[in-house]
Amino acid sequence: MNTKELITHAKKAQTYSKSKYSNYAVGAALLTRNNDVIYGCNIESKAYPTTLCAERVAIFSAIAQGYKDFTEIAVITDDGAAPCGSCRQIISEYCGNIPVHFSDKFGDYDTIMIDELLPYAFRDDNE
Ligand code: THU
Repeated sequence: MNTKELITHAKKAQTYSKSKYSNYAVGAALLTRNNDVIYGCNIESKAYPTTLCAERVAIFSAIAQGYKDFTEIAVITDDGAAPCGSCRQIISEYCGNIPVHFSDKFGDYDTIMIDELLPYAFRDDNE
């Protein structure tokens, strides 16, 4: 699957976002080693800190479905923001050094490896 296709999946996932408090919808599409695509969207709660980001929803639900190996993740927001620190931690920890594509609503995107987004990561394989 090429990057544009993965971003198109993230855009679809973004439509499922529950973000009425921030009005900031985020979509994620996680590509598994065997080319399945797992969607994530941000899900906000009236109890604000309970909110979960799109990237972590995708990774956690993939893991809960038995997936272990991931090759890329695409994230889309209207303004093309890069993933937050908590999501960088989880991407690094559970996906290894994969490329992270982050796109704005026009499909303009950057691709940066997670080891570059999160240098000196706190990970099991650091020793
Ligand atoms: N959000 C994500 O889904 N991913 C990120 O990497 C950063 C922030 C969500 C959380 C919240 O629902 C909204 O964006 C505004 O912060």
